[in-house]
Amino acid sequence: MTIDETSESSTPKKRGVILVVDDEDGPRLSVKMALKDNYDIHMAADGPAAIEIVQKHKIDVAVLDIRMPGMSGVDVLERIKFLDPTIEAVMVTAFETTDTIRQSLKLRACDYLNKPWEISAMRSAVSSAMQRRTLDTEILNNNEKLQQLFTELQNEKVEGQMAQARGDIYASIIHDINGPLTVISGFLQLINHRIGPAETLDAEGLAFTKDRLRTMTRQVTNCIEISRRYLSFLRKQPGEYASVGVNQMLTDLEHLMRVHPSQQNNEFDVQPLAQDIAVKLNGTDVIQMLLNLAVNAFQASPHPHRVQVSGESLSAPLDLSVFKDAPGERLLNVENFQNTAPLVRLTVSDNGPGIPPEVLPKIFQAYFTTKDVRMGTGLGLNIVQRLVKESGGALHVKTAPGEGTAFSVYLPGAPITT
Ligand SMILES: Nc1ncnc2c1ncn2[C@@H]1O[C@H](COP(=O)(O)OP(=O)(O)OP(=O)(O)O)[C@@H](O)[C@H]1O
Ligand SMILES: [Mg+2]
Repeated sequence: MTIDETSESSTPKKRGVILVVDDEDGPRLSVKMALKDNYDIHMAADGPAAIEIVQKHKIDVAVLDIRMPGMSGVDVLERIKFLDPTIEAVMVTAFETTDTIRQSLKLRACDYLNKPWEISAMRSAVSSAMQRRTLDTEILNNNEKLQQLFTELQNEKVEGQMAQARGDIYASIIHDINGPLTVISGFLQLINHRIGPAETLDAEGLAFTKDRLRTMTRQVTNCIEISRRYLSFLRKQPGEYASVGVNQMLTDLEHLMRVHPSQQNNEFDVQPLAQDIAVKLNGTDVIQMLLNLAVNAFQASPHPHRVQVSGESLSAPLDLSVFKDAPGERLLNVENFQNTAPLVRLTVSDNGPGIPPEVLPKIFQAYFTTKDVRMGTGLGLNIVQRLVKESGGALHVKTAPGEGTAFSVYLPGAPITT
């Protein structure tokens, strides 16, 4: 017998879909009453009816009575997990036996409740099952999207749409972003499966891990969106700019740095432009400059320190006379700098150890590094200064031993067009 009732919902937000399976009318309706305000509900009075519903509808969480004539709740769980392994389940039982519970947990049921259950316990069990389901789906989707991104990158290369040298640099950035993401994503999947049966973690540990998992998954999703945005910039013709606001790039940078291994225990603060404008530059170039400068700032010291990134739009040309030719200061590309307003200044500063005076003249040379081979290739600042030159911008560095370093990039501004 199929009792297929979908509660009427006028809310535009997609609601979770619950399947309630119980052979008794009373308990089945009580589950519906407890959940109908927050979810869409399907109901079935026996196993075959439940399976029919799963074949026809996308179900998020199934609430299954264990003791039913014909197919038991555990049998139903096995069949519906076979049809859709991503469905989460909450088992309900009047006669708890460790055997059935063990069996249900083996089939990856999320939770079980004893009859008679409290409304709050039912709601909370279904809500955590829902959360687990959303997380699983998001992780799976992310993995698929990452695969797709890699394929697209491969195609970009094969089609040779980009000039070789430039294309390699671009491809490597996106590759660099995606590399750690793939690791995180795989790692997330692993933890999620490991804590699934929840036998080895206490409640607090479990809640903590789940919370972290949620945050990390969200971050991966953000990073994938960012990669996609910068991949689309690659398809622009030379001289054609994606007029993305600088603040979007600063937000992207913040998301990327939050998952970057170099961030560790350092403080990180990003201050956007008060009035957002765009720059006459490919967004991929801007994010690459900022990433290189921010990673350098984080790597400036192994001890916890502070890194700040701030943006400012300048409505007048730069007064070049204020820049001194001091031992701790350098201004690059003065000769080709298009010093006309509007300009955007992007500053990455740290309170690390500063750059020693004998090192400063060498930092922009290709392959110059003071870092361990595994930490640096010495190409970062060389790429930054090349991108600044190509864009008609200027690059300023100011450093003092023991006080820290600030790199400022001046770029020609442009209106944001949609
Ligand atoms: N914020 C900073 N504080 C202290 N030293 C810095 C800072 N930024 C750069 N440097 C110095 O400049 C050198 C060159 O930097 P660059 O980014 O070109 O290469 P890298 O960071 O060593 O390697 P890569 O960027 O290729 O991974 C660094 O090795 C470091 O000595
Ligand atoms: Mg570097």
